[in-house]
Amino acid sequence: MRNKQTVQLIAIGLTICVVLIPVGLAIHWFPPLGSTQAHKIHTLYDVLIVVTVPVFAVVATIVLYSVWKFRMKPGEEETDGPPVHGNTRLEIIWTTVPAVLILGLCVYAYVLLRDIEKKPARELVVDVTGQQFAWSYQYPVQSGIAKPIDSDVLYLPKDLSVRFRVHAKDVLHDFWVPSFGMKIDAVPGQVTGYRVTPDRLGQYPAACLELCGLGHSTMRSTVRVVTPSQFTAWVSKQGGGAKPGATPGGTATGPGGGTNAAPAAVGKQTFVGAGGCGGCHRLADAGTVGTLGPDLDKYLKGKSPDFIRTSIIKPNAVVEKGYPAGVMPPDFATKLSKDQLDGLVAYLAAVTK
Ligand code: CUA
Repeated sequence: MRNKQTVQLIAIGLTICVVLIPVGLAIHWFPPLGSTQAHKIHTLYDVLIVVTVPVFAVVATIVLYSVWKFRMKPGEEETDGPPVHGNTRLEIIWTTVPAVLILGLCVYAYVLLRDIEKKPARELVVDVTGQQFAWSYQYPVQSGIAKPIDSDVLYLPKDLSVRFRVHAKDVLHDFWVPSFGMKIDAVPGQVTGYRVTPDRLGQYPAACLELCGLGHSTMRSTVRVVTPSQFTAWVSKQGGGAKPGATPGGTATGPGGGTNAAPAAVGKQTFVGAGGCGGCHRLADAGTVGTLGPDLDKYLKGKSPDFIRTSIIKPNAVVEKGYPAGVMPPDFATKLSKDQLDGLVAYLAAVTK
């Protein structure tokens, strides 16, 4: 009788494992993997599925089997089961097996963590800055980059390790590129970070993963993993700087904070980049489609530079109908440099005439 029960239990448990493990391995839990780190983390995840499904099978089988097999039958209302005083061998087994499993997985995860955080011989350093509600990327001077670059799109060369130094200008944010398999909080006053080695060409979303205000869900940006030669070409294009006297709202792909740039070019760069304005405001010239704040093409039309400046530094001075007060951060006067603020006013005045 007891042997028959054991055989039945083992058969049910094995069936659950045989069905669930392949299902667990076949499901695409992750977005397309875009870094060497993401591949290793994915392998860890697969190992976890293979190890944990049998644990689930053992527990579920014994519970369900007992409920079914040993349920109360008519006439047994007043009777009690046999008295049990424990089973030393069983207790040793069910303590040792989980302990060994957990310890093994801890060692594996620790070795993996050391491996994906290892400092490589050569790496690119990128400063990632989060603020309500946009990400911007600064490339400091280093091998291959002769002049600092400021960009609102994260360009990375394939197969080169990159170290992100993550900053926050106002509140907590969290820098997350799902395809890279890594994330970390951006903390005001601290520098956090992590490393990845992108290993797949393509375009990926980056997002904020820490509730940081009304515009949190719009705090997204684009990552482009390109070939090393495309990356070099992009760097030299950024380092070239805008021509003095460039037309306002023209093709200002960004002088990277250069000093000889036309104010409006700086302004456009600030609008889409460091200022993060496009996350909340629609502006045709900048190609932004934010809806949290007023549509600037409409509401700034014909407004004076003075009105525009006041609206940026004192956002509650005039609040457009239908938009709540207190949403736009009130600290742009201190967050932006004088050049950035002047540029922003000149740019907005020029493109919303
Ligand atoms: Cu920044 Cu959420």
